[in-house]
Amino acid sequence: MDYVTLAKHSVREYAPDKIFEASQKAKASIARLGEDQVINSTLGECLDDEGRLMVLPVVEHLLRTMPVEEICSYAPIAGIAGFNEAVEISLFGEGKNRFHVSAVATPGGCGALRHLVWNFLDEGDAMLTTDWHWGPYRNICEEHGRKLETFPMFDDQDNFHVEAMEESLEALLKRQKQVVLALNTPANNPTGYSMTKEEMDRTVEVIRRCGKQYPDRNITFCLDVSYIDFDDTFERTREIFDSIRDMPANTMALAVFSMSKSYTMCGMRCGALVCLGETEEAAETFKAAMSYSSRSVWSNVVRAAQKVLVDINLNPELKAEADRQREGFKKQISARGQAFYREAKEVGLKCCPYRNGYFIAIPCENPARVAQILCEENVFVVPLAKGLRFSPCAVTMEKCLRAPKLIRAAVEKGKEESR
Ligand SMILES: Cc1ncc(COP(=O)(O)O)c(C=O)c1O
Repeated sequence: MDYVTLAKHSVREYAPDKIFEASQKAKASIARLGEDQVINSTLGECLDDEGRLMVLPVVEHLLRTMPVEEICSYAPIAGIAGFNEAVEISLFGEGKNRFHVSAVATPGGCGALRHLVWNFLDEGDAMLTTDWHWGPYRNICEEHGRKLETFPMFDDQDNFHVEAMEESLEALLKRQKQVVLALNTPANNPTGYSMTKEEMDRTVEVIRRCGKQYPDRNITFCLDVSYIDFDDTFERTREIFDSIRDMPANTMALAVFSMSKSYTMCGMRCGALVCLGETEEAAETFKAAMSYSSRSVWSNVVRAAQKVLVDINLNPELKAEADRQREGFKKQISARGQAFYREAKEVGLKCCPYRNGYFIAIPCENPARVAQILCEENVFVVPLAKGLRFSPCAVTMEKCLRAPKLIRAAVEKGKEESR
């Protein structure tokens, strides 16, 4: 094509992001028909019952009173002073935990996933995750010359499918030197499922065994805990980290940390890739390698967001206040999700097992067509490969109760059409 000098690998269609596209349609319908007539369940941001973005008041206060120098000057590559400690407190609580924690600031959890895919896999390798997963996992892999492979997330009892994970992990270990298993839990996007402690124990046991059985392979186990503060209590959600122990030396455990949900700061682009190091040396090697990667891609990360994280977590009073405010948000979102899930059962709409959090997934045939049918009813959901995603985080309680019946009818209609 004339006047286009793109390298071959970068000549690609930009398929409009499905979530963004559905949300634009919903907004147009709201403008035409009014808020009450439309169920816009597309976005992954928490909206209150008046449709306003939910932002922790502590966060808003800190941002509005921050000196301009803290906002505008560069941050050190790995994070500002106190960042590592603040991430550690946010993820593990006060007091010494048994990992050597090393956190490198990234632009959101997205940036952390980028560092994971680039630095822990070789060219052409596949990352392993569940079949129900957040869409950008695949984009991030492909953008970096890697692939995504999946295994069925649930067995026929709707429990986490440890056996399927084991089978896929072994298959990868036979092919690749570098192996990454990424699991998004608790409050998984898009299902709202949280792995139990027992499921995590069994998963880590598989990694332990595989590590020993394949001593010439490197296994990275990454927990994407972006929604960790929107599930159960602090103590119970952190039990999954207790499973990670007695790991062989050819393994490393990482976590994707995001400020988008826990600190309601999605637009401020801050998160971290976190090493749960078994030794100090491993944690330091991780930090050096990730810092190199950061310097070469985005340099440093939004300073104001890091400052908010540090100011909250290193000040027990502010932290208690932020925790209290977040607890209110969490309760509201979970109450909506639980209401949708109960009502779905009531009307016979099959959902993936939901525990808590922003999203619920509805398995169905021909998701794109079902989403289109729902569009005609002014219900906007996100079509995924295996079903639909509904977002209780963005929809009032009244609409969460109204939606399941409408979705069930559309799923049935979609089924009939494909017969
Ligand atoms: C599962 C999962 N991981 C990571 C992210 C990254 O979010 P952010 O880059 O805004 O921190 C998201 C965002 O929606 C997500 O759903």
